[in-house]
Amino acid sequence: MRAITVEPGQKGSLRVEDVPDPVPGRDDLLVQGLALGICGTDREIASGEYGWPPEGHDRLILGHESLGRVVQAPAGSGFTEGDLVVGVVRRPDPVPCGACAQGEFDMCRNNRYVERGIKQLDGFGSERWTIEAGYAVKLDPALEYLGVLMEPTTVLAKAWDQIERIGARAWFEPRRVLVTGAGPIGLLAALLGRQRGLEVAVLDRVTEGIKPELVRALGAEYHTGTIAEAVGDTGPDIIIEATGAGRLVFDAMEKIASGGIVCLTGVSTSGRDLRVDAGAISREIVLENNVIFGSVNANLRHYQLATVALAAADRSWLSRLITRRIPLADVAEAMEPDPDDIKVVVDLTA
Ligand code: BGC
Repeated sequence: MRAITVEPGQKGSLRVEDVPDPVPGRDDLLVQGLALGICGTDREIASGEYGWPPEGHDRLILGHESLGRVVQAPAGSGFTEGDLVVGVVRRPDPVPCGACAQGEFDMCRNNRYVERGIKQLDGFGSERWTIEAGYAVKLDPALEYLGVLMEPTTVLAKAWDQIERIGARAWFEPRRVLVTGAGPIGLLAALLGRQRGLEVAVLDRVTEGIKPELVRALGAEYHTGTIAEAVGDTGPDIIIEATGAGRLVFDAMEKIASGGIVCLTGVSTSGRDLRVDAGAISREIVLENNVIFGSVNANLRHYQLATVALAAADRSWLSRLITRRIPLADVAEAMEPDPDDIKVVVDLTA
């Protein structure tokens, strides 16, 4: 079968090659890969900046935003041939740490977790893949190819779940949320904010085109410029930062309302200096009981929450998030970001 493979750490090593078909274990599903979403992490791995191959191997099968159809399922697994499924990305560390022992592998404490298509486990970027039935999630068949948006939605389902748990430390009736960045993560953050009935504003650099249209279609406001310009005099109760840009991260800390929560989801690039008044920022965080926290990955509970969020979303809105579909053989094109991209998807059947 054909698979997208890469030698982690080696820029330019990405290729589509023939590899042996996977052999399902006793508790595994055999799945036909339908589509694969591409995100910043995949581009980092493809450019040699991130990723780890499985032990004893040089190359890794890339891909963690999966979508597939079950070809073969063990009896009693709860799955049958034809089911539309996605695979959970992370597996608990083998020790396991306290969080992993509780099924909260997204909060792994010793960083010895492994991840499909990212860290020491082959991913879902192949014509067929296998998955433990316990780490497969069944999708509403009506979603069809939109199911490829499941994994990024789980990342936001977790972020929102964490925001609500943190908020519950004291009286918390949020009204306004600001999302920075109108890529897939920012737009899905805005969708989940609107599903909660909140007033949502989204900030991005792009001034026209599909991003402002998608934001307005949600009943949210679209802004360009600075956070200060977007929020006005009173800070929002929640900020979800989805760019990783240092300036925006610190502006968010400064502009959040009293008792507000800043959730950082963007993976920043290191090595860029920024002058900030650290004393003023930390003083404000203390005097206003603010919480700044980071959020990554998702556990099985978040996959269930994301299933509900996707089912409740407008399908034509979701379909507009997928701005490019690329045949498997041309995967290299998917690694080149285009300014008009939101989500780029590789078609594993073409
Ligand atoms: C994935 C997460 C993963 C993280 C770090 C992200 O792109 O969505 O599931 O935990 O990368 O490897």
